[in-house]
Amino acid sequence: MCGIFAYTGQNGKDAAKVLLDGLVSLEYRGYDSAGIFTPESGVIKTPGAVAELRKRVPKKYSGKSGIAHLRWATHGEPTKVNAHPHGSGAIWLVHNGIIENFKELKKKLVTKGHAFVSDSDTEILAHLIEEHLKRERSFEKATLKALKEVRGTYGVAIQYKGEPEKLIAARMGSPIVLGIGKGEHFIASDPSPILKHTKKVLFLNDGEVAVLTPKSHTVYKLSKEIVHRMPEELDWSAEEAQKGGYEHFMLKEIMEAPEVVVNTLRGRLIPEKGMAKLGGLEAVAKELANIERIIIVACGTAYYAGLIGEYMLEEFAGIPVEVELGSEFRYRSPVLNQRTAVIAISQSGETLDTLEAVREGKRKGALTLGIVNAVGSTIARETDAGVYNHAGPEIGVASTKAFVSQLIALALFTIFLGRQREMSVKTGREIAKELKALPKKLEKVLAGRKEFEKFAKKYKNARDFLFIGRKYNNPVAFEGALKLKEISYIHAEGYGAGEMKHGPIAMIDKDFPTFAIATKDSVYEKNVSNIHELKARKGPVIVLATEGDKEIAKLADDVVYVPKTLEMLSPILNVVPLQLFAYYFAKGKGLNPDRPRNLAKSVTVE
Ligand code: AGP
Ligand code: GLU
Repeated sequence: MCGIFAYTGQNGKDAAKVLLDGLVSLEYRGYDSAGIFTPESGVIKTPGAVAELRKRVPKKYSGKSGIAHLRWATHGEPTKVNAHPHGSGAIWLVHNGIIENFKELKKKLVTKGHAFVSDSDTEILAHLIEEHLKRERSFEKATLKALKEVRGTYGVAIQYKGEPEKLIAARMGSPIVLGIGKGEHFIASDPSPILKHTKKVLFLNDGEVAVLTPKSHTVYKLSKEIVHRMPEELDWSAEEAQKGGYEHFMLKEIMEAPEVVVNTLRGRLIPEKGMAKLGGLEAVAKELANIERIIIVACGTAYYAGLIGEYMLEEFAGIPVEVELGSEFRYRSPVLNQRTAVIAISQSGETLDTLEAVREGKRKGALTLGIVNAVGSTIARETDAGVYNHAGPEIGVASTKAFVSQLIALALFTIFLGRQREMSVKTGREIAKELKALPKKLEKVLAGRKEFEKFAKKYKNARDFLFIGRKYNNPVAFEGALKLKEISYIHAEGYGAGEMKHGPIAMIDKDFPTFAIATKDSVYEKNVSNIHELKARKGPVIVLATEGDKEIAKLADDVVYVPKTLEMLSPILNVVPLQLFAYYFAKGKGLNPDRPRNLAKSVTVE
């Protein structure tokens, strides 16, 4: 999820100033490296964000047009050489997305004499356009030809030094919006950098390409058919534009769950073979085939993802798994050896407790792996291998989309390890098929999000909340409680539903509500009994149920339905209602869910 901004104009504005000022509002989209290109002054790139880039842009640097970029790396460490813009000959471009078939395209271009300088997937697109330019002798035609060869996602802004005032934008899976000004035009990832110049915008759809000059804009389909669509007037503030029109980043990121599932899965499933293709594990595949034990280390939400991973890996890969809090593991005397794998789960890749646990694992000779969102982060660099989430930056302090992505990554891990062992093709195919069905099912859950505003109002005076679940959904109950307590500050606790009778049920009365996860699975009947126990003590119960389950609705005070899925994947659907409940509960209390008191997004202290 990078930040793209491009400008062409004839009003005497300096493109470098327009671009650098505009990038600031895109920093939430990516901040590991930055770069700018103008045909007049060339390219400048650096690790770090806008402030670092400004330091390297000399006073005389200028232009009438240009492209700029803030990177959130997916392929290639966040270094200067991997930063955008990427160029080849007279072609320069910035990109948001993943070019899945970049390796095969790169091979083909190398045989045509192209030399590459970076490890990024993006660079190949510049070379591909330049290659087509040799024959097509038209910037537009060469770009259309190149884009048709690309598989994956892109939001791109492209420049050709032979026509310096012209910009080409294209969208496939990553957002692109055009700014329609008087004598000037803009391309951006979201409207925030455009709005100070013009409120007239035009959002590109997937498969559309736009050609911009200072005075004109034309939108085509990849089929070259012209698209006639009027621009719209946006009355958003820049901040609203950053949040995609949502009030908080947390809600925006909850709503991104379907897209995050698609991005985490991208290029990693071989459905017909029921297998997972995890490039980051190829180098250690042989060692992984021989490991006899897994220890997952993580903190907070990532820890709860790990607990779900334990169920997956034990049931479907047949490997014994322990899950440890990073802050505890490093003080134990863990018994590890070369047949143990330590898997660190961390959104930021910088959580010190988890990092120290990885270091402890390495000291003891274990194979260390990471499931990390931030490319090039410390945990990603210090583990022997791993899988990047590709969930994009998570700005809200409360982790939501990262948790969904972690569960998808753990499911991919499970298929990868399981198919090295006893998992059948049939089972692998079944899981792969259901993974691909999740985005649509998540959209269905998210479509009912306004329901949670009602629940939050109904329970707004609650001072305590219990979340209960069993088996795969036991950790989901704990995660639901963590979400509620960390952004609304009330007492909330997760509990194994089976544990109620061993103590917690003593707390239950009419003022102590419970969120009970009771979707149709192997422990459904047991969960129904727990709900009876709660009702017998007059405890209010919100039940999370499988759509169509009318019986359980008779028991509950409130019921939330989610679509049916495989038991091992049910946490991915079931966690979203709990995230939404916590969000609206906190909002209903007048709190800012994005900035909960006392908390930081990345805990780099012990
Ligand atoms: C999650 O909502 C919390 N903000 C926190 O528990 C977080 O999950 C934990 O600090 C781990 O962070 P990491 O995934 O970046 O390692
Ligand atoms: N895949 C490109 C890179 O790694 C773009 C990254 C992104 O869109 O986040 O540079």
